[in-house]
Amino acid sequence: MHLRVLTTFLIGALLMVLNACSSTVVPGDPLDQFEPVVATTVMAAPEPGVSAVYAPEMTARGKYMVELLGCGACHTNGALLGEPDAARLLAGSRIGIAHSNPLQVKYPAIVFPSNLTPDDKTGVGLVSDKMLAAAIRGGVGRHGSRVLKVMPVAAYANISDADVDAIVAYLRSLPPVEHLLPAAVPEGRESDELYVHFGVYRSRE
Ligand code: HEC
Repeated sequence: MHLRVLTTFLIGALLMVLNACSSTVVPGDPLDQFEPVVATTVMAAPEPGVSAVYAPEMTARGKYMVELLGCGACHTNGALLGEPDAARLLAGSRIGIAHSNPLQVKYPAIVFPSNLTPDDKTGVGLVSDKMLAAAIRGGVGRHGSRVLKVMPVAAYANISDADVDAIVAYLRSLPPVEHLLPAAVPEGRESDELYVHFGVYRSRE
């Protein structure tokens, strides 16, 4: 009689300990490696610099467009996790964005939103105006050799020539920020970099 009570008590205590260890993780939950985050999607872009080439009205228009179109939400380090680095606005994100299914492949392909400041080594200093415009409106990667991943180019495809030129002028006017980003990670390769997933999913039935 006494023995049975003790056993029941022990099992109860063991279950409590196990419960505390595993908290809310359901065995086999494919999302147990992930947690929800609230990204910063609206933020001021840096003031335009004084440009020898472009009129102040044009760079001011570019700043307005960049804020409106939310470029900084991806292209500023920390913004994807809700903590944008105010000292390096638009200078690229070391937090990556996955673009393959995390539930099917354990290690998804990851890209890192580029440093958009005109730094020659780590930014877009050596990318021509024409190529920048093609990246923004068409998702054309450098030298046209690949399509940019994740960039919401479908939403930007109809930006007018005047507006895309203003964006490029604005980006050119910014002080160059040296900020080296990790290289893109191919699908299937384990990476130490932090990354997020985007997505809206529909039920199959
Ligand atoms: C949803 C996230 C996201 C938003 C919003 C976004 N981008 Fe990007 N962008 C990316 C990613 C990711 C890459 C790198 C893709 C790759 O390497 O395949 C990229 C690449 C680029 C490139 C190519 C740079 C290079 O290294 O050659 C330019 C230019 C660019 N973005 C400009 C912009 C501008 C301007 C805006 C706002 C109008 C913007 N992006 C908004 C995610 C984003």
